[in-house]
Amino acid sequence: MSDKKILITGGAGFIGSHVVRLFVNKYPNYSIVNLDKLTYAGNLANLKDIENKPNYKFIKGDIVDASFISGLFVEHKFDAVIHLAAESHVDRSISNPLEFVMTNVIGTVNLLNAAKQEWKDDFSSKRFYHVSTDEVYGALGETGMFTEETKYDPHSPYSASKASSDHFVRAYHDTYGLDAVISNCSNNYGSHHFPEKLIPLAIHNIKNNKPVPVYGKGENVRDWLYVEDHATAIDIVFHKAKAGDTYNIGGHNEWKNIDVIRLLCSIMDKKLGRAEGESAKLITFVKDRAGHDLRYAIDSSKLQKELGWTPSLQFEEGLEKTVGWYLSNEEWLREVTSGDYKKYYEDQYAKR
Ligand code: NAD
Ligand code: DAU
Repeated sequence: MSDKKILITGGAGFIGSHVVRLFVNKYPNYSIVNLDKLTYAGNLANLKDIENKPNYKFIKGDIVDASFISGLFVEHKFDAVIHLAAESHVDRSISNPLEFVMTNVIGTVNLLNAAKQEWKDDFSSKRFYHVSTDEVYGALGETGMFTEETKYDPHSPYSASKASSDHFVRAYHDTYGLDAVISNCSNNYGSHHFPEKLIPLAIHNIKNNKPVPVYGKGENVRDWLYVEDHATAIDIVFHKAKAGDTYNIGGHNEWKNIDVIRLLCSIMDKKLGRAEGESAKLITFVKDRAGHDLRYAIDSSKLQKELGWTPSLQFEEGLEKTVGWYLSNEEWLREVTSGDYKKYYEDQYAKR
């Protein structure tokens, strides 16, 4: 494996921190630069175990700042970009769509422009990898799965911004010849997940004996993948995909939200020494999310067949590990749920 200097954006976030850790530990000859704005979702505590590694460097910065980004590319002479920085929460996108346009669309175009400018003499040994979501495909009914051929049909401001950024990445490949690849992944879960998303929010509330809000009737279906399996897939796609190619990533693991929460409650009853059924009393049905997509299910057979990736963990096992992580990292949870989080929670849930 030859030496490479790789820019990973959003590396202090949930998935980004797992990707940074995997690359820093697995590829000591790569030099990894983690660029992150450290928004509410970015947290350097997620990377404590690798912060002093010789092949790792953190830079605080905003991908929306075009001149900063082009200067960074001139200074560092990156060989590749793995782009994860984004505003990632659907509910926040409903309250503040513009923030999502700025980071997810403008920020991505700024990175593409800087890469195009810096690499224009020879795109062949460079790579721009855009990490995206299955939400660009819209919503499924009771049957069917998203494939790489499914037409884009985003519904939320978040998914519209991610769809737009995907289109820009493909446009830079088709128009300028930039070596670009995209993967679209289903819902991730695991350690270091910010407790605005369903699973970590529920763990936090169950632990503190607070109501667990389930939108609508809890009938919506999500396809859950352990975050470390996503990081492994990103490693494989980054190294093996053809320029211009796209891969879906998912664990073939569909669950109704209410069933996920019931399973979590039962795992937490055991771990917290509560009577079976105790935590489930906290389940509270609340007003549905506007435009709530009914069902996501991803067909990742192209990735499995062509590049040989398979998910490693069953959902029950992954959830147990995840709950175990949150229960033994109380300080992390306390820190991220203090300050602005309290206001966020109040605004989202108080009148729901
Ligand atoms: P996250 O919200 O946990 O982390 C996002 C990171 O990006 C944070 O560290 C944040 O500080 C950083 N960031 C935000 N705006 C920035 C800016 N303007 N400049 C620089 N850094 C900025 O998100 P996540 O869940 O880890 O998702 C990472 C990527 O994966 C996103 O692109 C998301 O769309 C995609 N994705 C997420 C999931 C999922 O289930 N979480 C599934 C599929 C794809
Ligand atoms: O599918 C991939 C996407 O998965 C990623 O692109 C997004 O970045 C990520 O946030 C996630 O989006 P979702 O909207 O599916 O995730 P969230 O955890 O917010 O919600 C999961 C399901 O749970 C969804 O149907 C809404 C519901 N929900 C969510 C919250 C926060 C509740 O019922 N109650 C809640 O309090």
